[in-house]
Amino acid sequence: MNYENSEILIFKDTGQLSNFVIEKWMELSEKSIKNKGHFTVALSGGETPITLYQNLVHFNDVLPWENTDMFQVDERFVPHKDRESNYHMLNQTLLRHIRLPKKNIHPIPVKENTPQDSAIKYATGLTSYFKLEEGEFPKFNLILLGIGEDGHTASLFPDTPSLKETGLIAVAVLPPDTSKQERVSLTLPVINNADNIFFLISGRSKAKVVNEILKKRNTSLPAALVRPKEGKLFFLMDKEAGALISK
Ligand code: 6PG
Repeated sequence: MNYENSEILIFKDTGQLSNFVIEKWMELSEKSIKNKGHFTVALSGGETPITLYQNLVHFNDVLPWENTDMFQVDERFVPHKDRESNYHMLNQTLLRHIRLPKKNIHPIPVKENTPQDSAIKYATGLTSYFKLEEGEFPKFNLILLGIGEDGHTASLFPDTPSLKETGLIAVAVLPPDTSKQERVSLTLPVINNADNIFFLISGRSKAKVVNEILKKRNTSLPAALVRPKEGKLFFLMDKEAGALISK
């Protein structure tokens, strides 16, 4: 199936999906380090990427961690040791098991007084890391995203002002379900500026939203607003998530 120059791949399970991502990760990191000296990746939370993060640990000796810089796509405004924290999950599944130098890990700061302050601090860090001029956006080599049943991606939820952001690098987001934690998220201009964007999607509960985005072209959903300017877009899913589009 063709969706605006993207590749849509359906795997037997998240194990096979993660093998594909690791192969691509190796290829992209090698190329980027050869050309620019480093590889920059932004990682998401959620359940789907856990198999990938755990499997990446087996490549500890092979992957070029010294030249890899790891950022976060989004975070709940909770301490890093909180079980709801994406950083906590990343640390448990991947970071603490690999030889990625501490200076190469760039978590979303959460010790500020408000999520707005956190977003500003994260954006300031990114501006200095990427040596950005006024109006420029970071250019990640790879961004991993997920899709929620409601079509959210990163922490960009349907009908929230975050979707209209055109100038900021990171924003504070109050999820529509206000019982949920406030979040900090990269914005669409940053996501769409990446060289490579991989959506990782799993489970039967995602089949409907995948169908809405890829077959019905429902552009009201945040994940459908991910359209890289020049980069490559991959929709990678297990067969359950792909059940309706493969019919
Ligand atoms: C988060 C996310 C979020 C996630 C989707 C899909 O922190 O929760 O970054 O956007 O990627 O909700 O999550 P699953 O992989 O659990 O389906």
